[in-house]
Amino acid sequence: MISYLYNIFLFIVTIYASQFPISVSKCPGEDSLRYCLDQYKFKGPVNFRDDFSAYNKDIDFEYNRLTIYFPIAFVHPLDEFDVQIAIQCGTELNIPTVARSGGHSYEGYSLGGEDCSLVISLKYFNNITIDAISQTAVIGTGIQLKPLYYKVHKYGFAFPAGLCPLVGVGGHMLGGGMGFLSRKFGMAADNILDAKIVLANGTVVYSAKKYPELFWAIRGGGNAGYGIVTSLTLRIHPIPKIVTRLIIDYDFDQIPLLFSVLDRLGPNFHQNLTVYIVINSDLGPSPSTSIDCIYLGSADELRQQVDVQEFIKLSKPKNVTYIENSLYYFQVVKKIVPNGYYKPSSFFFDQRGIPDEGLKYFMQFIKSFKCKVHSKTLLIAGGKVNEIRRNEISYVHRGFKYHIFLAVPLPDAHSEETKECIQDLENFRHAFQNYASYECYQNLIDRQLDNWQCRYYAESFERLVEIKRKYDPYNLFRWNQSIPTTTNISC
Ligand SMILES: Cc1cc2nc3c(=O)[nH]c(=O)nc-3n(C[C@H](O)[C@H](O)[C@H](O)COP(=O)(O)OP(=O)(O)OC[C@H]3O[C@@H](n4cnc5c(N)ncnc54)[C@H](O)[C@@H]3O)c2cc1C
Ligand SMILES: *[C@@H]1O[C@H](CO)[C@@H](O)[C@H](O)[C@H]1NC(C)=O
Ligand SMILES: *[C@@H]1O[C@H](CO)[C@@H](O)[C@H](O)[C@H]1NC(C)=O
Ligand SMILES: *[C@@H]1O[C@H](CO)[C@@H](O)[C@H](O)[C@H]1NC(C)=O
Ligand SMILES: *[C@@H]1O[C@H](CO)[C@@H](O)[C@H](O)[C@H]1NC(C)=O
Ligand SMILES: *[C@@H]1O[C@H](CO)[C@@H](O)[C@H](O)[C@H]1NC(C)=O
Repeated sequence: MISYLYNIFLFIVTIYASQFPISVSKCPGEDSLRYCLDQYKFKGPVNFRDDFSAYNKDIDFEYNRLTIYFPIAFVHPLDEFDVQIAIQCGTELNIPTVARSGGHSYEGYSLGGEDCSLVISLKYFNNITIDAISQTAVIGTGIQLKPLYYKVHKYGFAFPAGLCPLVGVGGHMLGGGMGFLSRKFGMAADNILDAKIVLANGTVVYSAKKYPELFWAIRGGGNAGYGIVTSLTLRIHPIPKIVTRLIIDYDFDQIPLLFSVLDRLGPNFHQNLTVYIVINSDLGPSPSTSIDCIYLGSADELRQQVDVQEFIKLSKPKNVTYIENSLYYFQVVKKIVPNGYYKPSSFFFDQRGIPDEGLKYFMQFIKSFKCKVHSKTLLIAGGKVNEIRRNEISYVHRGFKYHIFLAVPLPDAHSEETKECIQDLENFRHAFQNYASYECYQNLIDRQLDNWQCRYYAESFERLVEIKRKYDPYNLFRWNQSIPTTTNISC
């Protein structure tokens, strides 16, 4: 009876404490986990379900609220010993265990893939050390991109990673990482020189480089269940103090012209120029259409790039703007897309580009879709990403011309409108995929994606499974789309 009343009390407190309808009943094994962490003297904060405000704050950190899981507890280790203890307790009690860095997984996988997982938060792994001489940075995986961008900027360097400054280093770089410098310096994962990782058996690997197959696996699949990566050594790159942002505006109807000219001239653009085509349906009566580029050099130098000028002339834009500033300014000036309900989609296109029919279908979808759509298409052709062999690291997506990143903001988690939009997006994806390559980008993770193993990892997949079996044989680090220890899928 007392426990019944207590649960009602918990329930009431919880509704007021959080917007989430959280189930407050204990997870199986909660008492044992408390005991285990105490026994091994875990030092950092541990937030169980009954620590309402701390637990809810941890939940609240999640970016995409479409899918929320309620972990058994959030543990916040202070150092690798603490990580070892959390892993040890997860193993002893057979609790699925996941790492959490920036909380920006589109499927909420840093909360686990089901309720009652154990979340190892990396928020105290937040050191950044720059070595200007060797042009390297050693960083904790718990930081967001913004402080990394700030620190390397202060030293006159840059690092190629994503556009959203609040994305976490851990999940992002270990799964690829593309952004405003990709055409010049490749994927973030291509610029990882070493890693520190705590394995399922508790061993701290201080230099993953010395375990070549593990090191191969974590650069592409490192956010899919090989261990808790606590720090990364990165190659950083000197760049000019002043760079140029080039923004070219079009009418929505000019998209076919824009792509036909870009298909031909884009691959020859100087690698200092990274090009995004941005099409958003939520601004004004007609979907906004523009090209948004970063050029590593001055506006004058960019004006001397013959094929870029040729492109501008032939594509007949409405408006062309050159803005000079530091790269860091452009990395953080952008308005932050707030927490909410999102569904992503990802498409790679080979060297033929996007067929006319496909482009028409894409435009029709954007115009008729009842939810908003944000799309960012990266020009990959002619860039550094494609100079690296497909099997060099486990991130395989090379040799493509474009990548389209679609994100659909939804009104909420469960309404009819949300369900319809998700279904329409799903139908669109099926049809549009006929025009695209088979592959999709694992960082835009999507539980509904058919044959995700091959789409995300292609020919890397089987080797990834073998390496998983070796380093996490009992599958401690597991959720719906983690790399399994066995498979009968052959890609
Ligand atoms: C608003 C927004 C903008 C984005 N923009 C871009 C972009 O411009 N370019 C791009 O390439 N991608 C982009 N992404 C995708 C982004 O790269 C992925 O969502 C990425 O996985 C998020 O990493 P995280 O650390 O923030 O997420 P988390 O949710 O913390 O982690 C994601 C996954 O990685 C695992 N993981 C996290 N940290 C570690 C670790 N230290 N060791 C082992 N596993 C770990 C987690 O268990 C989880 O499965 C964007 C996503 C969002 C939501
Ligand atoms: C961060 O750096 C400080 C100072 O060098 C060090 O004492 C601490 O252990 C580091 N933290 C982690 C989590 O590596
Ligand atoms: C843990 O696994 C790694 C990789 O297989 C191995 O090198 C190490 O010796 C193992 N540690 C223990 C304590 O078994
Ligand atoms: C290209 O970028 C590099 C910095 O990464 C810079 O040194 C060089 O001057 C730039 N070249 C041109 C042509 O702008
Ligand atoms: C051109 O674009 C710039 C920057 O986006 C904007 O400030 C300006 O108002 C635009 N001019 C026209 C004529 O649309
Ligand atoms: C996760 O995977 C399990 C089986 O592994 C499945 O039963 C479940 O429906 C999946 N959950 C979601 C939300 O897709």
